Amino acid sequence: MALFPPFPSTSASRPSSAAPRPGAVQQAGRTASAPPSFLSAKPPLSPSLGLPSTGLSRSVRVSQEEFLQLRDFIYEKCGIYIAENRKYLIENRLSNRIKELNLKTFGEYYYYLRFDGNRQSELIKLFEVITTNETSFYRNPPQLRIFQEAELMTVLDKLRKTGTRKLRIWSAGCSTGEEPYTLAIILNETLKAELPSWDIRITANDLSEAVLAAARKGAYNEYALRTTPAAVIDRYFTKDGANFLIDPKLKRLISFVSINLSDKNQVRRVERSHIIFCRNVIIYFDDEMKKQIIEFFYDNLLPGGCLFIGHSESLHNISRAFKPEHHSGTIIYRKEA
Ligand SMILES: C[S@@+](CC[C@H](N)C(=O)[O-])C[C@H]1O[C@@H](n2cnc3c(N)ncnc32)[C@H](O)[C@@H]1O
Repeated sequence: MALFPPFPSTSASRPSSAAPRPGAVQQAGRTASAPPSFLSAKPPLSPSLGLPSTGLSRSVRVSQEEFLQLRDFIYEKCGIYIAENRKYLIENRLSNRIKELNLKTFGEYYYYLRFDGNRQSELIKLFEVITTNETSFYRNPPQLRIFQEAELMTVLDKLRKTGTRKLRIWSAGCSTGEEPYTLAIILNETLKAELPSWDIRITANDLSEAVLAAARKGAYNEYALRTTPAAVIDRYFTKDGANFLIDPKLKRLISFVSINLSDKNQVRRVERSHIIFCRNVIIYFDDEMKKQIIEFFYDNLLPGGCLFIGHSESLHNISRAFKPEHHSGTIIYRKEA
């Protein structure tokens, strides 16, 4: 069965009739050498799931002082750093929250976040509004091919030899679940009939409760499957109206958990892993936060374990602890055995 679409990855094997999403918004790295670009509108979290998008009309204006207060608050709470020239993002994305709470200014909203009795639930909403959840099944196929052929098969062989058929994978910043489900499909395709004899868990975490709820539901539209091989869709999804429902046997391999990567105590809850995927997440953070999170990953990995990051991300100037292994189309970051 063709597990990967033909290279290059942009050639989707099943034509999608769904309109592409509007551009995703990304947070700039404070001290990163090449900060990611921003677009002014945040798309719906997932086109098929009816999750909220932000209205862009009638923005409440944010003063410089209010912006700095909120920027520092957001950084303190989740490590996402919004550069000063992205002030309009705060206005675009948070004006609706202010209106829904019947507040008038960003100053009032800041005090609500700090002191109101409902501040914990508002913090969750804030995270949902400021994060970018862009993802898809089979994102970056060349990297996934290396994962399967150069890493997964080797790890499975080693574990078979030791007689411990226990494998732990962590998908950090999993958004609506497309990444961990893709890993579960690859595992299923690799182990086939052997799978039931293995103790496998993919821990998939995110900051946003809304994306985790969507991930647990496992219903996707065609757009989420735009780079997924047709044979994979036929084998692992059931059509339900406009949606594609994920095979429940894949759900059993994954634990979706709410964990903030910038919180050491929360990160410690993740069982030690053989392999970590953290793709298109550290791009949100400044270098200080990147260093901290990459160190968490290093500590979490079992000896000889490895880390996969997004193709536009790098550990240059962030960590020297890992040994980079260069493969065609991807780098595997290895912890010493
Ligand atoms: C662009 S998506 C990437 C999804 C997937 N890894 C992929 O590459 O397709 C980034 C995800 O990271 C999550 N995220 C951002 N900051 C986070 C934090 N501090 N802790 C946990 N998740 C976070 C966002 O909520 C979002 O769902």
